[in-house]
Amino acid sequence: MLLKKEPYVNVLRDLDERRGYVGSRYMGNFGIRVGEARYRYDYDPSINPSVTNAFAAAAFRFGHTLIQGLVQLFGGGVQTERRELRDFFNNPGLLYGQNGLDRFINALVTQSVQGFDNLITKEVTEHLFEDRRHGFGMDLVSLNLQRSRDHGVRGYNEYRELCGLGRARTFNDFATHINPQVIGAMQKVYENVDDVDLFIGGISERPVDGALLGPTFLCIVGDMFLRLQKGDRFFYDLGNQPHSFTPGPDLLSERGGGIRKVGCGSPAIPRPQFGPWKEGSGVTFG
Ligand code: HEM
Repeated sequence: MLLKKEPYVNVLRDLDERRGYVGSRYMGNFGIRVGEARYRYDYDPSINPSVTNAFAAAAFRFGHTLIQGLVQLFGGGVQTERRELRDFFNNPGLLYGQNGLDRFINALVTQSVQGFDNLITKEVTEHLFEDRRHGFGMDLVSLNLQRSRDHGVRGYNEYRELCGLGRARTFNDFATHINPQVIGAMQKVYENVDDVDLFIGGISERPVDGALLGPTFLCIVGDMFLRLQKGDRFFYDLGNQPHSFTPGPDLLSERGGGIRKVGCGSPAIPRPQFGPWKEGSGVTFG
């Protein structure tokens, strides 16, 4: 259940009215901004930080739309090889070749992700964990849908209502957030608006300006991040707790220092570009 006492509906309404700077504004509205080198004191024991079904079985799987099907391996600053993602499944041997791990980490920090949309690479919809002897693999989207249904996650339309977008009565009612050709495709496979799976509806929404996700996934993911940050007594930047980090470098090093150190600490990895990760860099994910 989404947190009732938090003003999700208002946040979303606000987003609609003030398109343009949603990313940091959104985090500000939820009070979950990070990056300041000081403690937070807003732990609230009445907030349940348990991971919600809607988040794990559908919304945070949005990452599956970003997966690149072709991995471009880099070494010494230049692309040395391209391999289909299916080659990597259950095949750690590829990392043991000469400079294998370095080339792979370079690929991860150099290649951009695919856009957030309703298109997902065949590498995971037809060749997931493929056994080369058979030439076909599993379908990650089917797994996502089946997992949500197993877990009793409600349909997309119910979450539209919970998140303040309004319940759709006809497929055309989706048009405020979903492109017409996608709605047309949905109509071919779903009889009723209430049947549309949360994962399908969520990845079909146009992203909110300045954010990666559409409004329904933004609402579910925002709810979860808020719960984790304010409802988990062991969240790393809480002050006034027996286990709190020492302020200053310790607290800071937990904040993003980790991945930066991995990249910058290895001479085999030529200066990864972290600029685009900065807010306000103007880089969009799409
Ligand atoms: C090559 C990249 C990836 C592959 C092959 C992959 C594959 C999978 C598979 C096989 C599952 C379990 C499906 C099931 O049986 O229900 C899964 C679950 C999941 N994936 Fe991915 N995934 C990838 C990337 C991502 C990314 C980038 C994200 C998010 C940003 C993500 C988020 C999730 C989440 C939240 C779950 C559910 C975890 C749980 O509740 O235990 N995945 N993924």
